[in-house]
Amino acid sequence: MDHDNDISRHYARGDLLDAILAGMEKMGKTPETVTIDDLAPVDEFHIGGREASCEFLSQLSLSSGDHVLDVGCGIGGASRFTVKEFGCRVTGVDLTDEYIETGSTLCHWLGLNTSVSLVQGNVLELDFADATFDKAFMLHVGMNIPDKVALGSEIFRVLKPGAVFGIYDIMKCGEGTVTFPVPWASVPEGSWLASPEEYKNALLESGFEIICERNRGKFALKFFADLKARASAADGPPPLGLPVIMGAQAPMKIQNMVENVARGIIAPVELIARKV
Ligand SMILES: C[S@@+](CC[C@H](N)C(=O)[O-])C[C@H]1O[C@@H](n2cnc3c(N)ncnc32)[C@H](O)[C@@H]1O
Repeated sequence: MDHDNDISRHYARGDLLDAILAGMEKMGKTPETVTIDDLAPVDEFHIGGREASCEFLSQLSLSSGDHVLDVGCGIGGASRFTVKEFGCRVTGVDLTDEYIETGSTLCHWLGLNTSVSLVQGNVLELDFADATFDKAFMLHVGMNIPDKVALGSEIFRVLKPGAVFGIYDIMKCGEGTVTFPVPWASVPEGSWLASPEEYKNALLESGFEIICERNRGKFALKFFADLKARASAADGPPPLGLPVIMGAQAPMKIQNMVENVARGIIAPVELIARKV
């Protein structure tokens, strides 16, 4: 319970919806006129943003009849994109109340509240019957979860036999000490990075088979370089971006993450598994 509260406290900023509204105002947008693309820079809270989601999700064979679980959905950017792009129905679960409240408001603004349902909860104790979902995905969440076997087993339980579980997480890929704060933890005690090997072993132990694995370190470094080039060419920060969701410590968290990736200690990695 303390652990869950610590995670929620780390992510909540208290005024997220107001911060998003302020960014939208600078763009000349209102809740009536804002689009899913306008929100992508702030509602896809993972390395590579929408571009990474597109490439990752396109490997999950999503189709319009699917009911998909977004594990640790944040404010639901990837959930909404999945509905829009693939016509699925998505349920997102996240520990952080403020993210669920904010994300649900965004779904409402975009008219997606019947196809996307965001609920507060712990992905280690899901309130769904066995074999509820056709697919599941998880973007940048496992770094907050110490017990990867417990995670894998709970996702395995709620998936239908043969269903695919896609993971795009930051993993420990080399030697060295991670510099904190980073976007998912302010201090080392809040971070449970694991290697791709540890993830795969946990998935196998939970009953999955591994279909594919892809290290996205080079993609991440190019993404950061492009972001930096755009920032220095622009007149000030964009009205909506990850600093809006991360709050005051955002520049330091982002800088440390970029350096940790550049030093080869961590990298975003895709793993796709199937319930046997
Ligand atoms: C870096 S954010 C990523 C959010 C989202 N997946 C995205 O890519 O935009 C990590 C999220 O994981 C959530 N989280 C961490 N541990 C969790 C748990 N045990 N159950 C549910 N959500 C969790 C946090 O609340 C946070 O919203």
